[in-house]
Amino acid sequence: MKNKFEHLMLKEIFEQTEVMENTIEDKINGNNEINFKNGGFTSEEVKNFNRIYIAACGTAFHAGLSGKIALERFTGIPVKVNVASEFRYEQPVIDGKTLAIFISQSGETADTLSSLALAKSKGATILVITNVENSTMAKQADKVIYTMAGPELSIASTKAYTNQVLMLYLLALDMGNKNDYIDNKSYLKILEEIKLISAKITEILDDSELIKPMAKLTTSRPSVYFLGRYLDYVTAKEASLKLKETSYIHAESFPAGEFKHGPIALIEDGTPVVLIATQDELVPNMITSLKDVKANGAKTITVIKGTNEEISNISDYVISLPYTMDLLTPLISIIPLQLLAYYTALELGNDVDKPRNLTKAVVIE
Ligand code: M6R
Repeated sequence: MKNKFEHLMLKEIFEQTEVMENTIEDKINGNNEINFKNGGFTSEEVKNFNRIYIAACGTAFHAGLSGKIALERFTGIPVKVNVASEFRYEQPVIDGKTLAIFISQSGETADTLSSLALAKSKGATILVITNVENSTMAKQADKVIYTMAGPELSIASTKAYTNQVLMLYLLALDMGNKNDYIDNKSYLKILEEIKLISAKITEILDDSELIKPMAKLTTSRPSVYFLGRYLDYVTAKEASLKLKETSYIHAESFPAGEFKHGPIALIEDGTPVVLIATQDELVPNMITSLKDVKANGAKTITVIKGTNEEISNISDYVISLPYTMDLLTPLISIIPLQLLAYYTALELGNDVDKPRNLTKAVVIE
């Protein structure tokens, strides 16, 4: 099963190129139309929705956070994202004009299933995005979009995550096209850029060995902090979850701007901090955050697009990503950080594919 790879997690990280290529080939036709087969909506259906809820757990929840940004931007429909275990407590405002999206690799997660049941009972249209055909969630949905990531066996989710994000972006583009919210030029431009993503993932994976030495830093202290703004904050959350799952190191993520309102007190000499700075307009703000944590003694890894001399001069390590439009960076920025979680676990001698206390699908609430 592992082929030439030492672990399933590494194999699944490397499969992301192929998964993305297959998805794009399957979902986008020669006329640049997005086709979800039974999972898509008609123009009439899209125009009827006035509110979208997304509920999911763990990594799938993080995919939902990026999906919200894309859905609101392309469709103009307000979107609320919840961790599924909290969904019912907030008494969501659901009626026949609500689209409720549930994201789940396994399609069996109990918290997500009970959220789905609640949304269904209140009359929402149910869309499930899952990786497993005929899973319980798929059977209960009005529409299903399959993520086509292939079996994901390592407990730490990697390829399912990037494909969930991709599906949500394609869904947002398709819905935005159908409710005439996105203009055709932008629609085509984003689709063209999406088609280039798999090659960019290959570029990152070709340099995977560059990440290995950074595990010396993440294993050097009991806590690691991840900072980002906007979409990079979503990546920070997912990277932090990945690191804790595989390495058992205390990892936390913060919106970089919020960090100075208290959490910065946690920084002492040598504290590892990972900063994600891929959003062009937010790079100056991230440089301020970088300088702040460095001034307090942090050792840093900064993820950027292309090159940035100022960041390279300040940061202890820099991870350089190929250039893509800001909106699409979540599809690539997580990949070196998945590798960081992998190499950190390896450095500690942990069972990477089967971290302690975790199961692939959490089937109790
Ligand atoms: O199968 P699901 O996507 O519903 O699972 C949700 C979470 O339990 C899952 O993403 C978990 O957080 C992973 N172990 C993350 O790597």
